[in-house]
Amino acid sequence: MTANDVSTSTDHGTVLTGTEAHIEATEKYAAHNYHPLPVVLSEGDGAWVVDVDGKRYLDCLAGYSALNFGHSNQRLVAVAREQLGHLTLTSRAFFNDKLSGFAVALARLTGKDMILPMNSGAEAVETAIKVSRKWGYEVKGVPAGQATIITMEGNFHGRTTTIVSFSDDEVATSGYAPFTTGFRRVKYGDIASVAAAIDDTTVAVLFEPIQGEGGVVMPPEGFLTELRALCTERNVLMVADEIQSGLARSGRTFACDHEDVVPDIYVMGKALGGGIYPVSAIAANHDVMDVITPGSHGSTFGGNPLAAAIGTEVVAMLEEGTFQARSTEIGALLEAGFRPLVGRGLSDVRVRGAWAGIDIDPTLMSGRQMSEALMARGILAKDTHGSTVRFAPPLVASDEDIAGLVAAVAEILAG
Ligand SMILES: Cc1ncc(COP(=O)(O)O)c(C=O)c1O
Repeated sequence: MTANDVSTSTDHGTVLTGTEAHIEATEKYAAHNYHPLPVVLSEGDGAWVVDVDGKRYLDCLAGYSALNFGHSNQRLVAVAREQLGHLTLTSRAFFNDKLSGFAVALARLTGKDMILPMNSGAEAVETAIKVSRKWGYEVKGVPAGQATIITMEGNFHGRTTTIVSFSDDEVATSGYAPFTTGFRRVKYGDIASVAAAIDDTTVAVLFEPIQGEGGVVMPPEGFLTELRALCTERNVLMVADEIQSGLARSGRTFACDHEDVVPDIYVMGKALGGGIYPVSAIAANHDVMDVITPGSHGSTFGGNPLAAAIGTEVVAMLEEGTFQARSTEIGALLEAGFRPLVGRGLSDVRVRGAWAGIDIDPTLMSGRQMSEALMARGILAKDTHGSTVRFAPPLVASDEDIAGLVAAVAEILAG
């Protein structure tokens, strides 16, 4: 501990001061299910955060894209504060006066007939899986208990036991067997593999239009269009997990928009709660969503008035289109800055909107080392899969912020 690090016991609990004291207490009393960078944040405004020692950082992770609209976004904070003074939770045993507006707004944004609100992203994915299976049995006529869902290699859809059942990440799955059956994994972006895996039991293809945790990996151009056609032809639901790729991150409202493709089910989360509150949902048309009947699915907090008020404002902001436009502008800066570094420390760069994955030459350094070097320069980002670092700054980041990021990466690679 440094001189700044103090742990004081009071009648109301323990007051901790200083980076090391916070880290020590967190490591001691909270499970080690993450390996955070050694920074303790206490304030956030726009694209910037401040740690307990007063040091400022550009946040290039943005809560894994939950903070697309920036920290402490004034419009969202105002709506949340206002709603806190009225009503926060009703459960779905009763109606509330905010879910109605949220449902109308999100249905309009997605172009779908209905939404089903939940809380975390994983719950929304679970919801999409349940709806797809029920649709398979009741509408498509798949024999009871035989429904299969096609998933992709390298996927990340959350952490529940069913969701990790179709993950190919050793760390995410090890020790959690037995797994849920009924999933077939195929090569990401390979339409022939998807086609070959579909049979009469197949109810859905679940995919990320851009794989975020995978390192901002995009399918080949035309894949989304081909997948749409294939799903229609084979009577299979196209289920797009837009939890990380959606809501302006990729430069469009949804990543599927890049090919003007409309899936049967949109799965949304993260930024839907504006980085303030967990809000997730799926959206689909009546032919799919009508399989859900009272008691067949639910959540105590799903669709609560606080979540719905924030979500409604998020949709209003997205309907204005400015965040999508800014995301595209940031993407152009990231592309122009990172592309020349390929061959000079980077082996690959992938950019779509304000979302970049850089692959570092592993003989130079690991992704973790790059993240630590960036942190020392006042930039927070997160590595994934060894030598990859992804950047997803809040969409309120300035041109200077992005220039600072690019310059820092170039400087670190140059040694
Ligand atoms: C594409 C995708 N789906 C689902 C999830 C799970 O969301 P949550 O962590 O809110 O459960 C994530 C989280 O990173 C994600 O990126």
